[in-house]
Amino acid sequence: MFSPAITGTGVFVPPETITNDELVVAFNAHADLFNAENAAAIAAGELAAKEHSSSEFILKASGIESRYVMDKSGVLDPARMYPRLRQRSDDEPGIMAEMALDACEKALAQAGRRGEEIDLVICAASNMERAYPAIAIEIQKLLGAGGFAFDMNVACSSATFGIQTAADMIRTGSVRRALVVNPEITSGHLEWRDRDCHFIFGDVATATVIERREEASQGFEVLSSRCATQFSNHIRNNNGFLRRTRPDGLADRRDMQFMQEGRRVFKEVLPLVVAHIEAHLAEVGTDAAHLRRLWLHQANKTMNDFIGRKVLGREPEPGEQPNILQEFANTSSAGSIIAFDRFSDDFAPGDKGLICSFGAGYSVGSVLVEKF
Ligand code: COA
Repeated sequence: MFSPAITGTGVFVPPETITNDELVVAFNAHADLFNAENAAAIAAGELAAKEHSSSEFILKASGIESRYVMDKSGVLDPARMYPRLRQRSDDEPGIMAEMALDACEKALAQAGRRGEEIDLVICAASNMERAYPAIAIEIQKLLGAGGFAFDMNVACSSATFGIQTAADMIRTGSVRRALVVNPEITSGHLEWRDRDCHFIFGDVATATVIERREEASQGFEVLSSRCATQFSNHIRNNNGFLRRTRPDGLADRRDMQFMQEGRRVFKEVLPLVVAHIEAHLAEVGTDAAHLRRLWLHQANKTMNDFIGRKVLGREPEPGEQPNILQEFANTSSAGSIIAFDRFSDDFAPGDKGLICSFGAGYSVGSVLVEKF
């Protein structure tokens, strides 16, 4: 048996940003347009008028100030509200593969490894650009990696579930070096025309190199990991291979994009996550007092503040539970890895921390790491 270790992480940051103010201007113009176009039905009481969104609400409800996107013009066009992403030909790299490659190269540079040294690529994300061939196999080819590759989807928990999968394979010796990559084009499955959720997501890609601790000179040993799921309909996207689309490519039903009952998610996921972390730590004979940092999933600031307080049993000190969602918004599976990437350089050998993600499914994944 070997000991798995994270030896590098990388973040691809998309080229464009949308601030809350820009987003709200576009949404309100869209709402006015919708209300004007549907004035008769609204007056007859057949249709509800769309209300305006506000930057103050978004910041207060979520802690989000801005988000990165692959295309800003389509999202902010009040008549469209959907990114303009050119359909790639079969001979070109896909958009997810391109984003992933950038993140992988950064992670490999930090690990001091080359693409050829990788023998497992897992593309773990909340939506895939196509059904097959797997995006992971395309990334494997672009990297010049050997071995094998596959896609997996556990929504916002995809990264931690991917890390557990790779770490277990490294433990048994069936693979030597893995890349777990999380390209998230959340702008493609967010319903930007829905006031309740139009501010939630942003695009990004993260990558994590995992290899044998015995062959690495620096990094974070994966001491243990735990994954759990419990079925819920409160975060759901019904898009799939049986979908029907309008000629303009937009999904023709609201349920073909991201849907959630935010309040219920809040109430149901928080106790699940807190109990999961406590049980994980207890099972391996430790507790939160031995953790220097929590790198949590980045969906909502109030949610993270609550988890930090419950797990630590007190108000977290600055830096104990860093948030990146003010800059990136919710980036689905990538959020906890961005937090880890941005806030782990100050760790000294022996320091321990916990990466934890949670979301649709419901799903929760936690990875306990120790710096060496
Ligand atoms: N601008 C202004 N007002 C808005 C608004 C907007 N964009 N969106 C909603 N409102 C209004 C609502 O209509 C509601 O008005 P009412 O009180 O008159 O009914 C009020 O603001 C509160 O709305 P609510 O949806 O209850 O807000 P919230 O405080 O629950 O925050 C979320 C909404 C989505 C940010 C929050 O529920 C959340 O983060 N949930 C968990 C999300 C999560 O982790 N999801 C996982 C995704 S992977």
